[in-house]
Amino acid sequence: MKQDDILDALKVVIDPDFRKNLVELNMIKNIVIDGKRVAFDLELTTPACPIREKLRSECVEAVKSKFEDANVEVNLTSNVTTKRNSNINILPNVKNIICVASGKGGVGKSTVSVNLAVGLAKTGAKVGLIDADIHGPSIPLMLGIKNERPVVREIKGKHYLKPVEKHGISVLSIGVIVDERQAVVWRGPMVTSALKQFVTDVLWGNIDYLIMDLPPGTGDVHLTMVQTVPVTASIIVTTPQQVAMADARKAISMFRMPNINVPIIGLIENMSYFTPEDMPDKKYHIFGEGGGKKLADEYEIPFLGELPIISEICSGGDNGLPTVDSTSSPILKASWKQIVERTAQQLAMRNANLEPTKIVEVTNY
Ligand SMILES: Nc1ncnc2c1ncn2[C@@H]1O[C@H](COP(=O)(O)OP(=O)(O)O)[C@@H](O)[C@H]1O
Ligand SMILES: [Mg+2]
Repeated sequence: MKQDDILDALKVVIDPDFRKNLVELNMIKNIVIDGKRVAFDLELTTPACPIREKLRSECVEAVKSKFEDANVEVNLTSNVTTKRNSNINILPNVKNIICVASGKGGVGKSTVSVNLAVGLAKTGAKVGLIDADIHGPSIPLMLGIKNERPVVREIKGKHYLKPVEKHGISVLSIGVIVDERQAVVWRGPMVTSALKQFVTDVLWGNIDYLIMDLPPGTGDVHLTMVQTVPVTASIIVTTPQQVAMADARKAISMFRMPNINVPIIGLIENMSYFTPEDMPDKKYHIFGEGGGKKLADEYEIPFLGELPIISEICSGGDNGLPTVDSTSSPILKASWKQIVERTAQQLAMRNANLEPTKIVEVTNY
């Protein structure tokens, strides 16, 4: 057995997302051969890869089909991919920026942002979260950081904030900087400048995924964000009601405007159904059935998953305990797992197949 033999054997393992073999994709690293023992790294594009175990066992099988008595050891590693224009030097160490938007308020954007962020961090990724809802910041409550304050650091005479660390992620929200009642009455320009500072005056460090929880609507804040940073991708959250889906369409249209042009990597349907605890086999589609999936199909947006209506989400939000980390419900656990993994997967595919996002130059809207 030589290294080349191993690489040759592994050429039969195809990554179904990138439709190429693992060797071609340069995902096999550090092959070590010692007698019958063969060890190598399988470097994934995200630690949240949903098919990591499948790929691992296919690698073992591929080597064994050539060298029957080989003792194969596959170490799963990851290097989160990025697609940025090298001439943009804002947030240079942030690999991906993901906006969570909806159009309508109260559909679960903040819930999704928090749990997605904590869920990705749990897989081993480095994650940041920006609460861009200046007038209604709910992240501090949902993460239990209402009383925390970011540390200020002075570097070369300029002041920077260090994000608050909680549940394995780095977080910044206006709610941990000024009194909650103060920012509510801020006018547009103050909101805009606060948001810009979240990006320019904060020591984010190395981040694989920076999640941005947007306010409802399709307004000022959205334009500020796409004008300030190269947003890698967006995610749409909706509930099944017609009123929510009508607003989700507006959000989709905004991201797809020719001069904004932010790829939408997925749609999530929240509050899809209710399952009573004592009737685990029942699903009541209180707000209608299948609307989110249909909307996703209509706009050719990947459907990332649905979330049940469950009191734990509400109480977890109110008590600073993201349910992705704390739930005892197998259904909710599975829902979050799917949403976290599919998001990371779709983002990796976006990076492989699409051009870097530009910082938008909007003049008059
Ligand atoms: N699937 C769900 N089941 C129960 N409560 C939910 C669910 N999704 C969201 N909530 C609750 O609904 C409220 C609004 O959600 P939130 O995430 O703040 O929405 P948005 O950010 O879109 O305004 C919060 O109190 C949240 O805990
Ligand atoms: Mg919110």
